Amino acid sequence: MSQSFHNYIGGRWVGARSGATFQNIDPATGELLGEFPDSGAEDVAAAADAARAAMRAWQLTPAPKRGELLFRLGALIASQKETLAQAATREMGKILLETRGDVQEGVDMAYLAAGEGRRMYGMTTPSEMPDKWAMSVRVPIGVVGVITAWNFPFAVPTWKIFPALVAGNTVVFKPSEETPEMGWHLARLFEEVGLPAGVFNVVHGNGRNVGWPMVQHPGIDVLSFTGSNAVGQQIATECARTGKRVSLEMGGKNGVIVMDDADLALAASAVAWGAFGTTGQRCTATSRVIVHERVHDELVKLVVQRAQALRLGSGLEPTTEMGPLVNAKQLERVTGYMKVAADEGAKVSAGGARATGEGLQSGFFFQPTVLTQVERGMRVAQEEIFGPVVSFVKAKSLEDAIAINNDTPFGLSSSIFTANVNAAFTAMRDLTTGIVYVNHGTTGAETHLPFGGTRGTGNGHREAGHTMLDAFTEWKSLYVDFSGKVQRAQIDNN
Ligand code: UN1
Repeated sequence: MSQSFHNYIGGRWVGARSGATFQNIDPATGELLGEFPDSGAEDVAAAADAARAAMRAWQLTPAPKRGELLFRLGALIASQKETLAQAATREMGKILLETRGDVQEGVDMAYLAAGEGRRMYGMTTPSEMPDKWAMSVRVPIGVVGVITAWNFPFAVPTWKIFPALVAGNTVVFKPSEETPEMGWHLARLFEEVGLPAGVFNVVHGNGRNVGWPMVQHPGIDVLSFTGSNAVGQQIATECARTGKRVSLEMGGKNGVIVMDDADLALAASAVAWGAFGTTGQRCTATSRVIVHERVHDELVKLVVQRAQALRLGSGLEPTTEMGPLVNAKQLERVTGYMKVAADEGAKVSAGGARATGEGLQSGFFFQPTVLTQVERGMRVAQEEIFGPVVSFVKAKSLEDAIAINNDTPFGLSSSIFTANVNAAFTAMRDLTTGIVYVNHGTTGAETHLPFGGTRGTGNGHREAGHTMLDAFTEWKSLYVDFSGKVQRAQIDNN
């Protein structure tokens, strides 16, 4: 029998006001995992009200104390890592090795954000007037709405929620309807460490009925979103209309450049991990290989070997190396791109179809796919596929490779494999993505560095790292005049 889960609003576990529910399904088996509230605008309003009511007391709680709560939360998450990883694998499909990493990223983020409680540095600067002090401090904005995708169902929400909370905001969180159990776990863990009621609220449901009302609700001051470009653009447009602050983290079309002096075995392994890890459903996934023409055939051969050797199956099985896609819609989308590739004249060198066979019949499995003879302007070299598909594009030189890499509407991550230090530094300078790796694939960002991308990947914000508080705080400048006189800046001292 499947379990029934609730929203978490104002410290209480409640169903949707309408009583409606939706089902959470295991994408590897089709098994029903649980029923969740199929919430609507009235549930969002209740959560926004609860968050606003909790705001003042939370803002007045000293930041180091807010941080200590996150330290305790981090330790609690770490102690339940395996349970959380199993639940994440069951509901979104990626293998346990990876969901353990996903949960670990949440632990790392908890400790990192917790430390901000005792830093949260402002700036003090001399005043231009005598007997006057000038300083600036970060202040929380209010209620933060968090809307996230399903591919990193634990880590990505924590990039937003933990910094927002340590800065003194309260939060309304809509987890992806593909991975609602992770949102539920987060709420139960916060409850266990004693977060005051209303500071963190979870409303389950879909984008139209929960996400959009969050975007529109006047009681939600900031919106932080990770998801598709199409949705992100709608959110940005609406937030521009209402003047709401919005931080967007969207797609990628990440390239790995492989030069003719590279360690090809290393590059092939990195490409396979970057392209097929998380079944290609990462915003940082390697979806293009931009390879020097002299080593093209050799690298294709090595990556094809790795693609064909991958063991597909339920992510819960220790021998599985690649799980299913998250749902039927994603399977349809990735399958659709095979037709696009064929129509454009690309060649399928490995995979290219739904994966069937023993143990795969009931899941949304797709073969690890290598496309070759791809030209830089083709749709499969430009659009985010979000599946285990990697496109090979030939380059004639370093300059050519860098130009090809930079020629997409996205700008999240890129990488170069080379033994030449000058080539590496040229690439670090000239690759126009938010993240650049040298002799490492495009995935695997660490929480203490800024995360985000240029062009269509985002709207200029960076998550995590020393930038983590920027989306969730305002600056307040403070002047203290102890001269006992009316001192006129720009006038009396000139
Ligand atoms: C994402 O795909 O949305 O750098 C996040 C990485 C992970 C995070 C990916 N640490 O691949």
